Formats: sequence, structure tokens, C-alpha cells
Amino acid sequence: MENEIEKQYQYMEKVKQIHNGKTKKYNIYTMGCQLNENDSEKISGMLEKMGYTKTQDLANADIVIFNTCCVRENAEDKLFGKIGEMKNVKQKNNTIIAIGGCMMQEEHIVNKLDTSYPYVDIIFGTHTLHKLPENIYHILKQREKIEDIMDIEGEVYEGLPIKRTDNVKASVTIMYGCNNFCSYCIVPYVRGRERSRKPVDILNEVEKLAKEGYKEITLLGQNVNSYKGGNGYTFSNLLYDVNKIEGIERIRFISPHPKDFTDDVIEAIAKCDKICKIVHLPLQSGSSNILKVMNRKYTKEQYISLAKKMQEKIPNIVFSTDIIVGFPGETEEDFEDTLDVVRKIKFEQVYMFIYSRRVGTPADKMENQIPDEIKHERFDRLKELVESQIRENNEKYVGTMQKVLVEGKSKNNPNMLTGRTDTNKVVNFEGNETLIHNIIELKIVSEHMWYLKGKIL
Ligand code: SAH
Ligand code: SF4
Ligand code: F3S
Repeated sequence: MENEIEKQYQYMEKVKQIHNGKTKKYNIYTMGCQLNENDSEKISGMLEKMGYTKTQDLANADIVIFNTCCVRENAEDKLFGKIGEMKNVKQKNNTIIAIGGCMMQEEHIVNKLDTSYPYVDIIFGTHTLHKLPENIYHILKQREKIEDIMDIEGEVYEGLPIKRTDNVKASVTIMYGCNNFCSYCIVPYVRGRERSRKPVDILNEVEKLAKEGYKEITLLGQNVNSYKGGNGYTFSNLLYDVNKIEGIERIRFISPHPKDFTDDVIEAIAKCDKICKIVHLPLQSGSSNILKVMNRKYTKEQYISLAKKMQEKIPNIVFSTDIIVGFPGETEEDFEDTLDVVRKIKFEQVYMFIYSRRVGTPADKMENQIPDEIKHERFDRLKELVESQIRENNEKYVGTMQKVLVEGKSKNNPNMLTGRTDTNKVVNFEGNETLIHNIIELKIVSEHMWYLKGKIL
């Protein structure tokens, strides 16, 4: 296994030699979740080792990489649009086009690329990401289209180079794949079964990040609380161990699954001072009937009592969540149950999705699909409720002192700095750039729906 990565390092060197000291440019387009973002950081790491530097300008790029997502349909339309645009760019500049990620694990997508977009050079899947150097080398040598996709899950590879996009916060993938097969979801089919990294590899990575000056770590996986580090080592063991690492000041994790939220994890969150007191607890639906058909393995009541238990055991804990509206067979009553849970839990943040049919999943074959108008109408009602709650909740921050990790200059207003509270609220404020990288106390002076305004006292 280590040999495989060593082999790829040799290919990185060979590609660099082909470039013969000339600077080459890459552009990378990432869709989807933070796991994909983290994969893209590894892709960037490999490309930089091969002598490529990043450019935002497609026309300037020698290689363009698309790292795709297929969790919902709109991602597909977007990707095909982008690849269509690449045709002219490639004709002019002979750009290498490589497409990887979750969507490439779907046969119908690869077929469509083969027939309608034959100018794509490399297609790679989620289990062959580490072989990009080898594939680029072959393209540079003979320019024959490469399809490198595996249907069985690959191994957990350690030691790939990584080029991170941020220098305050970092993501660390702790496990790959998913075993849950929620009936709407494509992820288990495109990411394979669960595979956990070894605790020592994760802890070494976090220690290295701490030494490099990172302050916040997000532990990533499709179901982090089913992490299995070997010899009985669990997710809560990992939380305690990461909490001990000096220099790291904040720990987050996404996503846990409510069905695996055991008491030891709750206790770890309560006891570890660095773990942020916001937990992402994906609800998906508030209706026990729908939850059953979704194969989520908890009821509305179990979800609510889990949240209540956490509120009792962890002072000041708050929640964020994911919700799908318009799942097949969802009645008005079912939807009301979802609204009811939202009213009861008062989430800090809700990521809302309209149900999207995914080829190959059980829900796609269900006959009682919900018409688009109803889906949209329910989505709008949910959104209205969520936004009124966010506004109400934001008001509670106004006048309070908050610890904010300062991340950098605000994107919309370079005269302002931006950071986040422990509960992941964006706070913009005026201040000196030397504050970037630090946790400081701010007074919250006003709320603006998607961010709060703070003031240094
Ligand atoms: N493993 C994570 C989520 C992965 S996908 C978890 O279980 O929480 C992120 C979110 O996309 C899901 O939580 C779900 O709300 C949404 N999602 C997944 N499949 C979807 C589909 N077919 N249609 C609409 N939303 C979907
Ligand atoms: Fe998809 Fe469910 Fe796995 Fe999350 S837990 S990735 S929603 S199958
Ligand atoms: Fe999308 Fe793959 Fe993540 S399908 S949500 S990029 S795991």
C-alpha cells in the first residue's frame, strides 16, 4: 500500500521532469461536500508537486480538473455546462481535461461523457484519486483517453501531499464511505463502504496542522460517529485525543448520524473544552413514517429525545441540521411533523434540500413521487419558518460578548475582518489585520440575517 503511494511520488517527479522547469498552471473546480473539498486539496497537493501552480483563469490553464458531486440533480446540469465551455478552450490551448469524484462512479454519466464530450482526457473515480500523477504522466506521453474507475472500494491511502486552501481552519477526513443506505441517497454507491483511518495517522495529521499554526480542525466523514479505529477505539476516544493536541483551539465534526449518537460521544462533547458546542444532527424529516421509508433508523420522538438529552448533558449546546422536503409519499401531515421538529429544536442553522431522484436508489423507484409544485411550496414554507427563527435567534446574540476566531478579511468588504463564533455564526467587524488567526472577544452590536456585526471593546 505504501508502495502504491511511493510509486505515485515517482510519477509526480517524472511529470515534473517532462515540464523541464517551465511553470505550468492548473485550475480546479470543486463541487459538493467538505469531503470533496478535502479531496481537492489533495489533488492540488499532487499537482503542485508536479510543478503546476494554481490559476483562476481557465484560458491560462494547462490542466483543468473537475471534482464532481452527484448528491442532487442540479450538480449534473452544472457540470455538463462547464465541460461544454471547455471545448473551445481546449481547441485553442490544448488543455488537459480531467474529471473525477462521485459523479464518475455512475455509469450513465461516464457513458454520456464518452458519447457527448469525447475531448475529456482523464476520467477518475473516488477510489483512484491517488493515481492522478500516473494518469497525467500517461496523457503527457501519449494523449490517449484514460478511464480509471474502480467499483470496489479502494484502500485508505496515507501520505499524499496536500495543499490547503485556508491557513486558520483545516479539514481532516477520518473515514471514507458510508454503510447506511438511506433510501434517497447516492453516496454509499459512489463512495463505497465505511473505511476508517488509523487513529495514529489522524492524530499525526492534526499535530502537524497545530505546528503549522492551524487553530480549528473539522473531522470529516459521512457518519463520523461510526468511526472505528481498531481494537475498540471509538469516535469518542478520538475526540479526547484530538482535544489534547496543543495549539488546536476548536474542534468540529461533520456529519454524525443520530442513530449512532452514543452516550460516550455526548460525554466527550461535554468534557472536551475545545469541541464547539454546536452539533450538526441531520434530521432529514420530522415524520416517523417518512423516516422509516428513508431507512434512517430513528423516529421523530427518538430524535427529539436525543436532542433533549444532549441539552441536559451539555450546557449551551445548539444544533444545526439537514432537511429534505418532498420525499416520495410525503403527505401534508408528514411535512407538518418536520415543521414541528424545527419549531421545537430551534436549529442554529438548517440546510434545506428539495428531494432529488437519484438513479439506482430505492426512493427513485417509488411510485408516489411528489409533484414539483408541492415540493417547492413546502420548501418555501420551511424556508420562511427557518428564516424567522434565525432572525429571532440572532437577536439573542445582540448585546452579548462572543469569542470569535478571526479568519481573514471580509470578502464583501475588505475594510472589515470576518470570523466565526463557536456556534459557527459569521461575525464581521472593524479591526487590525494582526488579529487574523486569533480568538478574540467581541461585542455583538447588530444582526443581519446571514452575519452578525461585532465591535472590539
Ligand atoms: N452523511 C451525511 C450527509 C451527506 S449528503 C448525513 O447523513 O448527514 C448531505 C445532505 O444532502 C444530506 O444530509 C441530505 O439532507 C441531502 N441529500 C442527500 N441525498 C439527497 C437527495 N436525493 N435529494 C435531496 N437531498 C439529498
Ligand atoms: Fe447518505 Fe444516509 Fe450515508 Fe448520509 S448517512 S451519506 S444521507 S446514506
Ligand atoms: Fe457529493 Fe460525493 Fe460529497 S456525492 S455530497 S461530493 S460524498
